[in-house]
Amino acid sequence: MKRWLLTGGRGMLGQDLARVVERSGDQVLVTGSADLDITDAQAVQDAVGDVDVVVNCAAWTAVDDAETHEAQAFSINATGAANVARACAQRGVRLVQISTDYVFDGTATTPYAEDTTQRPRSAYGRTKCAGEWAVRSLHPDALVVRTAWLYGAGGGNFVATMARLAGERDTLTVVDDQRGQPTWTVDLADLVVRLVDAGVPGGYWHGVSAGETTWWGLARAVFEEAGWDPERVQAVGSDQFVRPAPRPAYSVLGTARLSEHGVAPVRDWADALREALPELLA
Ligand SMILES: NC(=O)c1ccc[n+]([C@@H]2O[C@H](COP(=O)([O-])OP(=O)(O)OC[C@H]3O[C@@H](n4cnc5c(N)ncnc54)[C@H](OP(=O)(O)O)[C@@H]3O)[C@@H](O)[C@H]2O)c1
Repeated sequence: MKRWLLTGGRGMLGQDLARVVERSGDQVLVTGSADLDITDAQAVQDAVGDVDVVVNCAAWTAVDDAETHEAQAFSINATGAANVARACAQRGVRLVQISTDYVFDGTATTPYAEDTTQRPRSAYGRTKCAGEWAVRSLHPDALVVRTAWLYGAGGGNFVATMARLAGERDTLTVVDDQRGQPTWTVDLADLVVRLVDAGVPGGYWHGVSAGETTWWGLARAVFEEAGWDPERVQAVGSDQFVRPAPRPAYSVLGTARLSEHGVAPVRDWADALREALPELLA
């Protein structure tokens, strides 16, 4: 039985990861920012003392706010990640660092392979990219698991927003020129546990659903699954929704490295949504 420590463990991913680890029969210690602030290097050193695996789910995740608060985002996403990596490396603890599609430029037309050179275009992406580099240099055995388009019961997300807006508006407009892989936090948690159990080598891994769609396609799928008329969801271009941080037009991540190491990929996004939606709508 392994002992896991989750930093940032009370967020959307952390809550489901804790459940999945417990279900696997391992022990899990969940910490949030109030009990373990990853920007406090000494506190991180003390916390990592007695565990086998650390998953760093802690992050500044407010993508638009990061544009005007890049230093604060950097202190969590880069310096905080470095603190966790240094402590884990010194004690020989397996580390999983959760990262993001925002480290890429979003201009590709075919899936980003795990070894594609990062080229972030937003402050959030730059800080997460710096976190990846820090983790890779301080702890080469760490797994950097990039994910994207996450939704889950434990936090605000696009699927929850669509469900709320369905009750407030007759029609909604959603962008149809950004492509990605909607990924259920339960499926990502399951993949993280499988990667650790398989003892895969360190480096970059992609933890996203199979298949791809647009935000408009995802919104329509939510409506269809929930039994609402999908024609209420209308497609618009991103130029109608200009945001402080640039959004990647193409965020599809390739997962070839999983099959190369005999690790089953995450299921198709539409199948996951079907299973997830009752819990999300409850
Ligand atoms: N959501 C997505 O669509 C998405 C996509 C790609 C990648 N990711 C990555 O997935 C990971 C998990 O994201 P999530 O969606 O679960 O985000 P989340 O719900 O915002 O959770 C992040 C957690 O980090 C904690 N945190 C912030 N600053 C901290 C600090 N200094 N020390 C310790 N904890 C701190 C927050 O706790 P407090 O609220 O208590 O401060 C929060 O609970 C992140 O690395 C994120 O970059 C997310």
